[in-house]
Amino acid sequence: MDASTTVTPAVLILLGPPGAGKGTQARMLEDTFGLVQLSTGDLLREAVAVGTEAGQAAKAVMEAGDLVSDEIVIAILRDRMAQPDCSKGVILDGFPRTTVQAEALDDLLASAGQKINAAISLEVEDEEMVIRISGRYTCAGCGEGYHDTFKKPVKEGECDKCGHTEFKRRADDNAETVASRLTAYHAQTAPLIDYYQTQGVLKGINAMGQIDDIARALQGVVSDVME
Ligand code: AP5
Ligand code: MG
Ligand code: ZN
Repeated sequence: MDASTTVTPAVLILLGPPGAGKGTQARMLEDTFGLVQLSTGDLLREAVAVGTEAGQAAKAVMEAGDLVSDEIVIAILRDRMAQPDCSKGVILDGFPRTTVQAEALDDLLASAGQKINAAISLEVEDEEMVIRISGRYTCAGCGEGYHDTFKKPVKEGECDKCGHTEFKRRADDNAETVASRLTAYHAQTAPLIDYYQTQGVLKGINAMGQIDDIARALQGVVSDVME
């Protein structure tokens, strides 16, 4: 392909409360559309594990279920989006989460001649999110997400994707922290639904059903906006 036919990479946002299924669905969209999932939660957990300056600042905030500062999160996201694999197009999972972050993203994309194809809101009731989060665990090898009841590995104790046999649970998936995360979502992130509605890029998906049914609905939306 020569430079004159360069395709502008797609930018999709998955909006939704804790446990809505953003990570689960983003990974499925990655596989289907060849896009790259960017989860600021995963990037922050990596920074905490490595012990970077940002990670040290974020650790206690995440354990309390509050939002990490816009400054830290925007810097992490900007660095990640500058990496070459993001030229395929990205699915933003858990970013933006505040109006300041949304405006920073608009500026970042505008400076690269890109735009948001769609902000897809996964609509779930608060009670369901608590059930989903309390049963969640992930593969320690590849990060694939599972659930004690709703998404078990095909072979017990072995990851479907990579065969790993070790799994982990998140430090912030306890009842008290989940309550704070929900409060932060309603106060600071839910207003972005109106923000993207005003921009004309908002799509809503009922995310109360089965994982595969939601994936099919989502694929339909993404196919439409990527045309
Ligand atoms: P983050 O990691 O983004 O957590 P979150 O938003 O609380 O969302 P989760 O990852 O808990 O849920 P999910 O929607 O990905 O659900 P999942 O697919 O796993 O953020 C963590 C923290 O980092 C924040 O609290 C904050 O401190 C900080 N942070 C991150 N980004 C930030 C930002 N931009 N600004 C400031 N701070 C930031 O599904 C959940 C479970 O349910 C799984 O077990 C799954 O198998 C299961 N499941 C999924 N779909 C279904 C279904 N349809 N039916 C039944 N079960 C299902
Ligand atoms: Mg997630
Ligand atoms: Zn795995």
